[in-house]
Amino acid sequence: MLYSGAMADLSAEPSVEELREKFRSADLNDLCDATEAAIEEGGGFGWVDVPQRDVLERYWKGVLVVPERFLFVARLDGVVCGSAQLIRPPRNNEAQGHSAQLTTSFIAPWARGHGLARMLTLALLRCAKSEGIKTVNLDVRETQTAAINLYRSLSFIEFGRHPHYAEVKGQIISGLYFTRDLEDLPTETAS
Ligand SMILES: CC(C)(COP(=O)(O)OP(=O)(O)OC[C@H]1O[C@@H](n2cnc3c(N)ncnc32)[C@H](O)[C@@H]1OP(=O)(O)O)[C@@H](O)C(=O)NCCC(=O)NCCS
Repeated sequence: MLYSGAMADLSAEPSVEELREKFRSADLNDLCDATEAAIEEGGGFGWVDVPQRDVLERYWKGVLVVPERFLFVARLDGVVCGSAQLIRPPRNNEAQGHSAQLTTSFIAPWARGHGLARMLTLALLRCAKSEGIKTVNLDVRETQTAAINLYRSLSFIEFGRHPHYAEVKGQIISGLYFTRDLEDLPTETAS
């Protein structure tokens, strides 16, 4: 499924797309490049140091074969420059089957400021709603100001703070927990 959204004041064309089954042509390589750039800039999801390329490739190929994971990528002029995932709980977790986790969201530094993270997040929220999910949860380092602004602007509600959420290069960083009820989410284009 392709969601596109032109920005009036920018020539590059941003779009987001759900990827299924397998990577096409240069997409895996571009996604690995974008991941490396985000890790090097300090906002890589989970990774603190850039892993070997084959480790990254195995990670992304693995994401596509996990049935509970929905992988969305962002593109600028067709080049993959970021991604985000929606993860449903395992089937045995019936009590939390109404919810999903939005995770591993990032845009490569060179592609930021085009509205792609907003488009990605909205695409994931709409996908979640169409899958019958009622609540989307996420957590983020307290230092990721851009992401926190984005989630607040999309009506995520902060409900908790973990004082020892992450350790990055020897420094303990707090984390914030957000949730969004999908009842009021429009199924079509939203901003
Ligand atoms: C957070 C991140 C994904 C934003 O990507 P982006 O494509 O540049 O974001 P967008 O252009 O869609 O901007 C959407 C909103 O994010 C917020 N935002 C984006 N960049 C920002 C910045 N530099 N400072 C403050 N807020 C910012 C704003 O609320 C913005 O809305 P606005 O344009 O109406 O002001 C990107 O900076 C990133 O990858 N950061 C590192 C990884 C990370 O923090 N991931 C989230 C983990 S859960």
